[in-house]
Amino acid sequence: MDAKVNMQTEKKALDWANLSFQYLRTDSRFSANWKDGSWNEGELVSSELIAVHEGAPSLHYAQQCFEGMKAQTASDGRVLLFRPDLNTERMDLAAARLLMPAVPRELFMRGVEEAVRANYAWIPPFGSGASLYIRPMLIGVGENLGLKPAREFEFRVFVSPVGPYYKQAGLSVISLAVSDVDRAAPRGTGSYKVGANYAGGLLATKLAQEVGASEALYLDSKEARYIDEAGSANILICTKDGVLLTPKSDAILPSITRRSIMTLAREQLGMSTQERPIDLRAEFSTFQEAAACGTAAVLSPIGKIWFDGQWHEVGDAGSNVGPTMQKVYDLLVGIQRGDLEDKHGWCHEVSI
Ligand code: PLP
Ligand code: COI
Repeated sequence: MDAKVNMQTEKKALDWANLSFQYLRTDSRFSANWKDGSWNEGELVSSELIAVHEGAPSLHYAQQCFEGMKAQTASDGRVLLFRPDLNTERMDLAAARLLMPAVPRELFMRGVEEAVRANYAWIPPFGSGASLYIRPMLIGVGENLGLKPAREFEFRVFVSPVGPYYKQAGLSVISLAVSDVDRAAPRGTGSYKVGANYAGGLLATKLAQEVGASEALYLDSKEARYIDEAGSANILICTKDGVLLTPKSDAILPSITRRSIMTLAREQLGMSTQERPIDLRAEFSTFQEAAACGTAAVLSPIGKIWFDGQWHEVGDAGSNVGPTMQKVYDLLVGIQRGDLEDKHGWCHEVSI
């Protein structure tokens, strides 16, 4: 282990309640390397800089993928991760799609836990509303000028204390603008958490913000008709009949938050749920509430959507949070923070 890395147990003096979603340098990060067909043990390192060959395929051809997770402090001081097994699975799928070596589950979990534990002082305390964002990443670092897979890879996990992704704290109502540029092709990489999808989406987010929206909303790239997802989150709709809908699409990220919410809504809120194509224009008048959901976004109610050159208000709640999304949020966040019973065993405690 890097001699400079040591765990400090006293919390940093940060204004936890007013953090935004921004990178804050913490004390250490985990790094492991793959070469000649195998992974090394990995270790905690103190430098946030990575020395990468100028010919690395991650830099030129976007041979890289990543994950997003959060650690939360429970009221009894336990440090909880939410369904980390699904992040491991999803990174495996992305690695296979981009011809990268899988990060073994044991290595993934050890990297995440060591990075969290070593940065204990940076984990926001219970009740602050903030959390420790965890970013595992897998990048092709060896030199390769031709278009072929890298011969060396780095698996790295860094963490940063964060506040809400969309500016206001707690449950805030956001707006989305339908994008004229596509994020992912039907048989492309839309369902994988790979950096290339996000580089292609930067313009859509900028255009959305230019009309005053928080974020871009993508429709399917074949017909520009069915809802796909937002730039950094999946979509949930509650219809006027009380059904919780979510888009079925091969081009969207299989959000862990969305999959969890659909299960909770069905099993614990007694709601009827459907995962199916949702035609934005044809079905908009049936929407009572909508929300974007994801690790960073948590659950952010959508007040209005920009499409066909104008704003369309969702339901009649205006800028208020609707009752269904409030219930879903309370249940999800209550479980993630260890306040409510975790019937599915989704929370994973990191021993400190
Ligand atoms: N969709 C996109 C494009 C994302 O970047 C994210 C964030 O990870 C999500 C959806 C939500 O996925 P999850 O709930 O697994 O964080
Ligand atoms: C996450 O929610 O973890 C993400 O990766 C979204 C990212 C755009 C911040």
